[in-house]
Order: sequence, then C-alpha cells, then structure tokens
Amino acid sequence: MSRATARAHANIALIKYWGKRDTQLNLPAVSSLSLTLDRFWTETTVTWGAPADVVRVGGEAAPDGFATRALSFLDRLDPARPPVAIDTDNSFPTGAGLASSASGFAALTLAASAASGADHTTEQLSVLARQGSGSACRSLWGGFVTWRKGSLADGTDSHGSPLAPQDHWDLAMLVAVVAAGKKPIGSTVAMERTRATSPYYAEWLATSEADVDTAERAVRERNLTTLGEAMESSTFKMHATMHTARPSVNYWKPATMACIHAVEQLRSKGVEAYLTMDAGPNVKVLCNRADVEAVQSALSAHVSRVEVLLPGPAPQVTR
Ligand code: PMV
Repeated sequence: MSRATARAHANIALIKYWGKRDTQLNLPAVSSLSLTLDRFWTETTVTWGAPADVVRVGGEAAPDGFATRALSFLDRLDPARPPVAIDTDNSFPTGAGLASSASGFAALTLAASAASGADHTTEQLSVLARQGSGSACRSLWGGFVTWRKGSLADGTDSHGSPLAPQDHWDLAMLVAVVAAGKKPIGSTVAMERTRATSPYYAEWLATSEADVDTAERAVRERNLTTLGEAMESSTFKMHATMHTARPSVNYWKPATMACIHAVEQLRSKGVEAYLTMDAGPNVKVLCNRADVEAVQSALSAHVSRVEVLLPGPAPQVTR
C-alpha cells in the first residue's frame, strides 16, 4: 500500500474550450487559454492498494455518479490497478460553474500518479487529466496556461502548456456568485448538443484559434484591453452557440445580466474590467488588482457573494 496527497487549483478559461472532436478522449475542437486561481483548490489523497474501492468527499461517502466517474478514470490510468481509496475535498462549492472538475481531476491525476509510483512528466499528467475533464489539463500549471487542441488521434499532443507564471501580472479575478447550486445541465451534454444542433457552431470553430493567438500575445505584453476584448468575445460567442442549440441551453439568470451591465458601466467610467462565464450563471470579472474594490462594490449590488481571487500556483504533491 502507498499513499499520496495532491493539491490542485481551479482555472477559469479566458478563451473558452467548448466542443469536442472526440468524446471518449475529451479531445477539444478548439484551443483555449486559462488563468489558474489561488484560493479555489481541491486536495485529494489516493491510497493505492486499499481493502476495497472507496470514494469520500469531505469525509462522507461520495454520491454514486461522482464515485463511478473517479474510479473509472483511474481504471483508464492503470487498467491493472489495485483497489484504491480516494479522499477529496474542495475549498469551494462543487458543480456550480466554479471549475471544480478542473481542480478535481488535476488533483486526482497527480495524487494517483504519485501513489502508484509512476514517473509521469507534467505534460503526460496533463494528457491524463484531460481524459477526466477537458479543462483539468490546464490545472497542471500555475498562472496563464494555453491548451492547444492538437491533431493526433490518440490525443498525446492535446495538453496544457505554461504561458506565464503566477507572478507575471498583477491581475485579479472576481467571481459574482449568482447561484451556487448544481447546474441544470452538465457541460458534456451541453457541448454535444451545441455541436450537433447550433447553426453558429461552425463560426465558433472558425474564429477560436485567432482568439487564443491574440490572448497569448496580450498576456505576454500585459495588455488588459486586448486580452479583455478577446475574452468577452470568446465567452459571448460560446454562449451564443448554446443559446442557438436545439433545445436551447441557457445558464443565465436575471442577476447574470445585471452583472454584465455592471461591468459595461464600470468600463464607461474608466475601470478596465472584463467578464467571462462558463456552463453556469456566475459572472467572472478580470481586472487590475488596483481596481478590485471598485469592481467588488459594483458586483455586490446584484449578488450576495463576490469572491476575490488572484493568479494561483501550480499543483503540488503535499504528502
Ligand atoms: O472541462 P469541462 O468538460 O467541465 O468543460 C469546461 C467548459 C467551460 O468551462 C465552459 C469552458 C472552459 O474552457 O473551461
């Protein structure tokens, strides 16, 4: 029996991943670019060689769906694996568009790899984490990370790459928590429906790579205006493909729209703030660290909870 604990941080895509070219391997139809966050993390302990398979979240038996997904992911990592115990906990609510699957599968991959004594490179860990949840492949690094979609059928060239480290740029990301409950429709189902039915999906594919290129340059040059404009364009295009799917996928709530308008108003007053949204109603706002108070007070008029996050570190095996 051997045991390892890993902590991995959530990431939020500034340029979005939406749509798969291979649903088995989670191979994306587009490249994406993300920021890893400091205070949102998952810590996971894997015991390799337990009496029987068991999965616990915060010390309690995990819901069936969650346990099955985690265990079958480990089957894929090592088809000859022994029984395992997985103990996991998040520093933030799960399943609410706050990127828990990204930090969750990154932490599980790292802890399982260390506990099993495997000697994976960070890129190999990213390829493995991607198969648990696409966005997890970006949580293998801190700071800004690019995930190039790759072209190989086996997915070995579809993984994250570090773009700029945690301390590269004094930015903050605020999360306006519109709703912290479970989302009505998961990202996997929503992505597939969008791909199959939205007339805008082809345009989404045709313009995404240029958004990643623009955002990469903007991060390197620390140009918030250029990054913010590419970021908002990416999120509104992604949501437009969802809204035009059949049946339509719509995560927005009235407070989502109120936060969108609040960000536009901040900009009209000269505060550089830009928003992004994922498969959920929450609004995430990127700004200079010096503007955190102004952004926080504007968002607080519409939601009862605003989380302030800073760029975060790479994951770590802690024990
Ligand atoms: O990693 P998944 O399968 O939960 O998909 C994440 C999709 C978005 O959060 C909407 C976008 C992204 O790039 O993270």
